[in-house]
Amino acid sequence: MIDSLARALDVARAYVASRSERPVWPTISPDALRSALGGPLPDNPVDPTDVVDALARAAEPGIVTTTGPRYFGFVTGGALPATVAAEWLTAVWDQPASLYVLSPAASIVEEIAGAWLLDLLALPKAASVGFVTGCHMANFTALAAARHEMLRRAGWDVEADGLNGSPPLHIVVGDEVHVSVIAALRMLGLGSRHIVRAAADDQGRMRPDALEAALSPPHGPAIVCAQSGNVNTGAFDPLADLAAIARHRGGWLHVDGAFGLWASASARLRHHLRGVELADSWATDAHKWLNVPYDSGLVFVAHPAAHRAAMSVNAAYLIRSANEPREPMDWTPEASRRARGFAVYAALRSLGRLGVADLVDRCCQLARRFADRLKSEPAIRILNDIVLNQVLVRVEPAGADADAATRDALARVQEERICWLGGTRWRGMDAMRISVSNWSTTEADVDRSADSIVRAVRQTVRGGA
Ligand SMILES: Cc1ncc(COP(=O)(O)O)c(C=O)c1O
Repeated sequence: MIDSLARALDVARAYVASRSERPVWPTISPDALRSALGGPLPDNPVDPTDVVDALARAAEPGIVTTTGPRYFGFVTGGALPATVAAEWLTAVWDQPASLYVLSPAASIVEEIAGAWLLDLLALPKAASVGFVTGCHMANFTALAAARHEMLRRAGWDVEADGLNGSPPLHIVVGDEVHVSVIAALRMLGLGSRHIVRAAADDQGRMRPDALEAALSPPHGPAIVCAQSGNVNTGAFDPLADLAAIARHRGGWLHVDGAFGLWASASARLRHHLRGVELADSWATDAHKWLNVPYDSGLVFVAHPAAHRAAMSVNAAYLIRSANEPREPMDWTPEASRRARGFAVYAALRSLGRLGVADLVDRCCQLARRFADRLKSEPAIRILNDIVLNQVLVRVEPAGADADAATRDALARVQEERICWLGGTRWRGMDAMRISVSNWSTTEADVDRSADSIVRAVRQTVRGGA
C-alpha cells in the first residue's frame, strides 16, 4: 500500500508542478488513449505500484488540465490543496458516510461542515443538509422533499401511495431554468410536459410578474424553482419578490444555486441574493466555486422532516445509533457513498469565512478584467452584464456571419491550448462562454488567455469566416 501511495505522490508532484504550463487541452487521439489504456483483461495480478505507474503514464496525456489556472470551461473549480489531501485520506480511510456506526468521524464532520455552510451562505440555522454528488442530485433531493411536503399538506402520502391518483402539483420554473432541474422533476415522476415556464428578462432572470401569471389560476400545490447564478450570464433571479409570491400562494420555493449561492459569502455580492433565506430549499455544488475535487454537491432544506421523509429508508440491518440524531444516509438518495464531508470541511477550514469571500470576489474581478480586455477588440461583443464570474463573448465581424465567426474563433482558441473555454447559445446567438471559478487563476492568466482569444478572433476576421 505505502509503495503505491508513494508512487502516486511522485506522479502527483510532477503533475501539480506542470499544471500551469501544460497544454490546457490534451493533444492525444481517442485511439491512442484506447491503445495506451486498453488490451485484454489481465489474467494475473499486477503489482499495485506498477499499476499506478502504468495508469499514470497512459492516462496523463488524456487529462484535461481542469485544475490549472486557465481552464474556464463549464463552471469548474480547481481543487484546493487541503481538499485534495483530505480526499486522499478519505480514500485511505475508506469510510462510507451512511451510518454513524460506520464512521463516527464522517458523520460528525458532515454535521459540523453543514452548520458552517448554513452560516456562510446565510441560510436558516435549522435547515437540514445532505452531501450528494453534484447540483443535479441536490436539485433532485430538494425537489423530492418539496414533492413530499406539498402533497402531505394536500393530504397525500407520496412515499406510500406514489403519484397515481395524487393531487396535481403546479410546478413553475423560469424560462432559463438549468436542465438539471428539469431532469430532477422528470425523475420524480412530475413530467417535463407539466412544467410551466415563467418568462425571463434579457439576462435570464425570472420575472416576478411572469411568476404571478404562471401561478394563476392555481391548479394544485405549487413548487417554484428559482435560480441564483444563470449558467450563461451568472444572473440572479429576484428571490425576495419570488419568495413573496410563492408564500402568498402557500407554495414551496426552491433555489438552484449551483455556483451563485456562494455569492452569499461575499459582502460585495450578497445583495444579489436578497431574500435567499425565505426559500424552502437550496441546491449548490462544492466542486464548482468552493474548489473541492469532484464530486461534491450540497442540498439544504428548511423543513428537515420533509427532507428526511423523502430520503430515509429503514431495514433491520441498518443500525441506527441511539444517541446520534443525525444519520448521514437520511438526507441523501444513496446509502453507501464516499465521505464527501471531509473535503468540504477541509475547504472551509483552510479558507475560512474571509478566504471564501476573497475567492469569490477575486474570480468576479477577474471576469470583469476579461470582459474589459476583450471588449476593446472591435469585432468582439460581450453579451451579458458581468454581475458574477461568467462572461459571454461573441464575434461580430462587419458583414460576416457572427455565429460562424464565433464558432471559428472558439475552435482556434481551443486549438491553441493556452486556455480552454466552451461554447453556448444565448438568446439565439452563438457565444464563447468564460467561467472564472479556479482559486489559482491570476491576472496574468487572464491577460494571457484574453490575448489568445483576441489572436483567434483576428485570425477569424482575417480569414473571412
Ligand atoms: C445553475 C446550475 N444548476 C445545476 C447544475 C448541475 O450541476 P452538476 O453538474 O454539478 O450536477 C449546473 C452546472 O453547471 C448549473 O450551472
